[in-house]
This record gives sequence, C-alpha cells and structure tokens, in this order.
Amino acid sequence: MTGCLLFFISTCSLYAQTDSLALTPPMGWNSWNLFEDEVSETLVKEIADAMVSSGMLAAGYTYIVMDDFWVGGRDAKNRLYADRKRFPNGIKALADYVHGKGLKLGIYSDAAPLTCGGVTGSYNFEELDAQTFADWGIDYLKYDYCNAPADVVTAFARYKKMGDALKQTHRPIVYSICEWGQRQPWLWAKAAGGHLWRTTWDIRDTWRSKEYRNSANGIMNVVDKEQGLEQYAGPGGWNDPDLLVLGLFGKGKSSSLNGTYKGCTLTEYRTQFTLWCMLAAPLMVNLDVRHLQDSVKAILLDKDLIAINQDALGKQASRVYEQDSILAYRKELSGHRIAVCVINVSSGEKRFNINADAALGLHGKWNITHLPSRRRAAFKGTLRPHESSVYICEAE
Ligand code: GLA
Repeated sequence: MTGCLLFFISTCSLYAQTDSLALTPPMGWNSWNLFEDEVSETLVKEIADAMVSSGMLAAGYTYIVMDDFWVGGRDAKNRLYADRKRFPNGIKALADYVHGKGLKLGIYSDAAPLTCGGVTGSYNFEELDAQTFADWGIDYLKYDYCNAPADVVTAFARYKKMGDALKQTHRPIVYSICEWGQRQPWLWAKAAGGHLWRTTWDIRDTWRSKEYRNSANGIMNVVDKEQGLEQYAGPGGWNDPDLLVLGLFGKGKSSSLNGTYKGCTLTEYRTQFTLWCMLAAPLMVNLDVRHLQDSVKAILLDKDLIAINQDALGKQASRVYEQDSILAYRKELSGHRIAVCVINVSSGEKRFNINADAALGLHGKWNITHLPSRRRAAFKGTLRPHESSVYICEAE
C-alpha cells in the first residue's frame, strides 16, 4: 500500500510545477549549530551586516535562516510570536532590517505541536502560520519533523498541508523539507511543494564517523548517501545533505556532539565545500561570519567553486571512479563543460593517474584546466589526506 502510494506521489513529483524559486541551490547562513537557543534579533542583525561587509552577499549568499528556538508561543488569537526577550521588536521589524541589506530572512517550524527543541510547532495551524510568516516578510521556511508520526503517508500529508498554505499566501517562500531522508523525500517532496529536502541525519563536524547513524555522521558518511539521488536534483528541487560545517572547528554545540567531535582541518573543510558545490547542494553555512579568518573566507567566497554549485543546468555530480582511496566526481555544466573533482579519502598522501576517456567518460578531445590556476592539466598528481582537486573540461 505504502509502495503504491510512493509510486503515485513520485509520478506526481515528475509533473510537479516548478515555480521560479530556488532555480539554483539556495545559499545562506543558518543559526543552528553555533547559536541554537541563543538566536536573537541582535545576532541576526550583526550577521546581516557581516554578510554584506565580508562580501558574502555579493558572492551569492542571500538567506539568513533562524533555526529552532526563535518561537515564544501563540497569542490569544493563536498567532505565533517570537521569544520576547531575544526578539523585542518582533520578526517583521527584523525582516525589514534584513531586506534593507539586500538579504532574505528564513524561519523554522515543525510539522508537529512541538519542534525538535521542544518549542511551539505548526501542526494544526499551518494556514495561520504560513500567513503569519508571509505577513512578516519571511522568504524561506525550514520545516522539521520531530514529534511527528513515522509513516510516509502522514509525512507527505503534513508537508503538503504546509506547502499548500505557503502557496496560498502568494508570497515567494522557499520551502525546505527536513525529515532527514528517512522516508525517501526525493520521491515526494516536490509534490508537497518543497524546493529542497534533507537526505540525511544531521551532519557533524568531523571527516567520517565509524558508521552512518542518527546523530553521528561526518562529511563522508553523508556524501556516501547522495549516490543514486542525482536524478532527483534540478532547478527548483534539491537534495540537501545538510549544512556546511566549514569553519566551525569543533565549536558548534550540536555539530560537535557536545564536544565529542573536535572539528575538521582546513583541507577537509575545503573538500566539503567542493563536494557540496559538485553535488549542487544548498550552501548553508553555520560559522560566525562576524569573525571570519582569511583562510576560511577564501573557501567561503571561492568564485570558481560557487559557479560550479550555481550552474544553471542544476546537475548533481555522480561518483564515477573509486579506486585505492581516490574518488572522482563528474558534474555536467552549462556550455557543454564538465567539472571533475578528485578526492583522496585516505589518511595518507596518495598519487593518482586517472584515464579521462576510460574512467571518466570524457571521449574525444577535451581542454582540461585545473582550478584555481586555470593551467592545462591531466588527471594526475598527488593529494594530501582528504585533499581535493577540481578541473573544468571543455570539448575542443
Ligand atoms: C533537527 C534538524 C536540525 C536542526 C534541529 C533543531 O535535528 O535536523 O537541522 O534544525 O532539529 O532543533
């Protein structure tokens, strides 16, 4: 029965109308890992200022998303209100401020009476809440699934209810579905009105954990889960392997699992960023953009990698090569170009020499350049542990 329904919904998804939102993967900042229940009006304003002054907005990072814990409760008319201490002027005034900077504001709720953090969720108040968000000037909703029934039929119904309610407001609001990839959302999220859907449990600030399980996944555990989902990504609908841990260095409460994970190296952060660009994943950072180190900023604002992520074709890279701890990903780009990324996943230095034709399917003659130097190159070299190398290939 559930199988039939999934088949039906996924067929609907094929014909689900794409609006003009999220035609490329959304880019922005999210409050979760670093600030959790400290998200506030002052913080959001300071982040907005920093996103402009650091060059993030100019590079394409548009959304500021307030994750869990912004809610105070419901008033006598059941309208949501923000925590009064942390948001003394309410969300509308904050949205005005954020819009005044040329940025967009996102918010968070849950398809149950309570969110993951245990504050008020939107179940049974979907239309009222969607209208409240629209009245405030909200541009993005992350909709979580804690405290909700496990079955896919209910999940689809609850997500569609909010998706329909958002549409009815006639305000363009990007809809981010967050049920952690537990019910194959790539098959139905678009039909529920979603523009992106989480494919995995929360990511942690580590290269790889021993196994993929709830609450303990490193970068590569999450990346492994993206294989086979390529066909579901495209303009208007994206697989979401969760946030970029870039620059957290073990400081995030949730991403470090309360200190269990000590963070990644700069090389690993660059590789996560590169992979997210190759996978056409949403680029949502968590780091404190008010205090950016130059080395982190260089990754965050890498124009070449961002261009790969934001390419208009919207293709998600596939892993096409895997040998002796060397992986290669291939992503089709507009203008008959192809991006290739080679990664060393071992903990030691590795040499590689990959045949473009046989291993990567680059038949015929190609002009291959290495990024960021743009020098002509072949797919061979040496990579340090967890280092990656990116190439742009153009047919001659
Ligand atoms: C879940 C989500 C996270 C975050 C928290 C907030 O774990 O997957 O991304 O939103 O809830 O409580």
